[in-house]
Parts: sequence; C-alpha cells; structure tokens
Amino acid sequence: MDFNDILQCRRTIRRFAQTPVADADLRALLEAARLASSAANRQPLRYIVVRTPELVAKLLPLTAWAARVAPRRTPRLGESAPTAFLAVIAPTDAHSEWTQADAGAAIQSIEFAAVERGLGCCWIGALQREKLAEVLQLPPDRKLLYLVAVGYPAETPCHEDATSPEQVGYYLDDHDRLHVPKLTVDQLTTWR
Ligand SMILES: Cc1cc2nc3c(=O)[nH]c(=O)nc-3n(C[C@H](O)[C@H](O)[C@H](O)COP(=O)(O)O)c2cc1C
Repeated sequence: MDFNDILQCRRTIRRFAQTPVADADLRALLEAARLASSAANRQPLRYIVVRTPELVAKLLPLTAWAARVAPRRTPRLGESAPTAFLAVIAPTDAHSEWTQADAGAAIQSIEFAAVERGLGCCWIGALQREKLAEVLQLPPDRKLLYLVAVGYPAETPCHEDATSPEQVGYYLDDHDRLHVPKLTVDQLTTWR
C-alpha cells in the first residue's frame, strides 16, 4: 500500500469484526504515534492500551458513536464492538491548545498505521471522561483526551466529493455503506 492508498482508504470505522488485534500490531500503532510532530517536541502525551475483553466492555458504554448513523453504526458488545481502545492521556496542567494539536498529530498517525495493517479506527471525543478516568484509574494529575477504538473493519466506508460546504453530512446508502462527503481542494482553498 503506498501512502496515497492509505490516505484514500482511511475512513472512520464503527463496525468491527470480533477478531482480536495482536499486541504487536497495537504496539506498531503507538510506534507511529510516538514519532508524530509535537509542539516544542515536549511529547506530553501518554497512552493506555485496553485490549482485555473485560476492560473493553467497561469502556464501551462510556463512549458515544455518531448519532447520524445510529443505531446501525453504534457498536454492540460481542457483535460489532472494537476489540481494543487506545486511551490518549495528557497532564492535567498541560497547555491545552498545543496538547490538543499534539493529540491530533498522534492520532492521525495511529489511523494511518492502522490502515496499513488492515485495521480500522474511530477517534472518539464524545466520552464520559470522569467515569472513564475512574475505570482507567487515572491519577489526578492526568486527564483523558481521547479514545481511539481499534479493530478489524467489518464495513467499507468510502468518501466522495461534497457538493457544497452545507452538504458534509455522512450517510448510509441503501446497501448500508457509509459515505463521507469531503470538501474539494477548490472549495477549501484560496491561492494568493
Ligand atoms: C476530534 C474528533 C472527535 C471525534 N469524535 C467522534 C465520536 O465521539 N464518535 C464518533 O463516532 N466519531 C467521532 N469522530 C469521527 C468523525 O465523525 C469522522 O472523522 C468524520 O465523520 C469524518 O469521517 P472520516 O474519519 O472517515 O474521514 C471524531 C473525529 C475527530 C477528529
């Protein structure tokens, strides 16, 4: 797979096969994350790998999945749930904008590395963070920024050119395939 294939193929996955992901593959995703850009190269982010079925089952109800495509893309335990989560953690007192930017760079790298391995991800920001902090046993000086759900995809979403900035809502077609409209370079860009 060349890099353009990875760019084109990466889509958020919300329906997963129930095949566990090997620890070596999860580790490879974190290898990608650790090499990402970081403001002033401070590297404030830390990660917790959750891949035991017991802990995955505790985290899943504390996550929210795209309402636009619910309930068909709301993962169910034992049927379509991710088999792992990567928790992205930051110091409570970290500069929030730059730490958020670091998280973006790291998570995007995780997503690309996942595609190369035949895995899929969902970057999840809609989280019950206080409850998750308890389940993950975070100390008071650490906060949960995001979860990244990981697993083998059981859907094949695709992107298409958006016709206008108002029409970016993703949708399931008559064959239950997820379509994700993306604005074109011309819609997004001014050249000076
Ligand atoms: C910061 C951020 C937070 C997100 N949070 C959620 C979420 O809580 N639940 C969810 O189902 N998807 C979430 N997503 C995934 C987006 O819905 C998805 O990226 C978007 O629909 C575009 O699809 P694509 O990733 O396939 O390009 C999040 C994405 C980002 C970047």
